[in-house]
Amino acid sequence: MRSRQFASLDHLSGGRSAWNVVTSWDAFTGENFRRGGFLPQDERYSRAKEFLDTAHELFDSWRGDEVLADTAGGVFLRDAKAGAFVHRGPHFDIHGRFDVPRSPQGRPVIFQAGDSDEGREFAAASADAIFSRHATLVEGRAFYADVKARLAAYGRRPDHLLVLPAATFVLGDTDAEAEEQAREVRRQQVSGATALKHLEFVWNRDLSGYDPDGPLPDIDPVVAEEHISRGRAQVRMYRDPLATAREWRELAEANQWSIRDLVIHTGNRQTFVGSPRTVARTIDHFVQSDASDGFILVPHLTPGGLDPFADRVVPLLQEWGVYRTEYEGTTLRHHLGLDHPDEPSSADPRAVPAGEAAAR
Ligand SMILES: Cc1cc2nc3c(=O)[nH]c(=O)nc-3n(C[C@H](O)[C@H](O)[C@H](O)COP(=O)(O)O)c2cc1C
Repeated sequence: MRSRQFASLDHLSGGRSAWNVVTSWDAFTGENFRRGGFLPQDERYSRAKEFLDTAHELFDSWRGDEVLADTAGGVFLRDAKAGAFVHRGPHFDIHGRFDVPRSPQGRPVIFQAGDSDEGREFAAASADAIFSRHATLVEGRAFYADVKARLAAYGRRPDHLLVLPAATFVLGDTDAEAEEQAREVRRQQVSGATALKHLEFVWNRDLSGYDPDGPLPDIDPVVAEEHISRGRAQVRMYRDPLATAREWRELAEANQWSIRDLVIHTGNRQTFVGSPRTVARTIDHFVQSDASDGFILVPHLTPGGLDPFADRVVPLLQEWGVYRTEYEGTTLRHHLGLDHPDEPSSADPRAVPAGEAAAR
């Protein structure tokens, strides 16, 4: 089902589809997508790997020249076995006939977004790009070095897996104007209700009776296995809720912050704030310092939020020769500099054959 959707999307978009293969961080979503409940972390990744491998088997069942176009624009099959697949594994046992011919990219571009050790291994083995959350220079460099170092074990080169953190931005005519606007955006993003919800992740109890413009709760967080968010990531993010609560109370008292002020100050901020020149320079510095291979921009306004970036930052990057001025191919794979599965990979002296890597 999923393979058919992605192969169709790849056809419809002329080879510009990508698939963010996520295992999901909360049990609520996990249960919704899998009969039998949310699996433990390591099993989630082994299932994801088999899921993806199976999808690839389906995509690849149309490899080669089975399809010929007839003069009327229709297609007919040269090889009656095209699309036939059999997969037997611990998670999936399926066979049949895949009915979508080979798409322009062969396979959609595969993204991976998990951050644990298992998630990083999954990306190193199977993904074309990682949608990461490490958007500061120091964290970005450490993450970049870590995941790139995992590739050789799978016979892959560093450029086979792109590190593309999510990044937000606020532009102004001057750096000061951009800072002011960033503060305004943040206030609008964090409403009183949002601030209370955020605090509940740490306190693990209903705080809806508290005034978001008042002081932090003086009761302590509930430390328990069962979490109010029914998820795991937030629990892991605040491994020690009692210590986090203490630290936040001290911060709020020292700065005279309300609940909402605290969430605004401690939550994720905009990644790049400044004049177009400042933002372009910072982005270039990240890429040149191996903190990322680029960014996935997440504008705070939809639609149209990307326009100022395209109009004011991209021309500077192009002027400095660090961003393309024209497309050389038509597919997303091509734009990202990734190999096409049907084309032999370009020779690279750093390449390590899989067998040799495994033997090391
Ligand atoms: C930057 C980032 C983006 C993510 N996007 C999604 C998403 O869109 N949908 C989703 O269900 N999970 C998403 N996840 C959750 C991950 O796929 C993964 O399930 C979660 O992080 C738990 O795995 P981990 O312990 O390996 O990080 C995202 C995670 C990260 C770090």
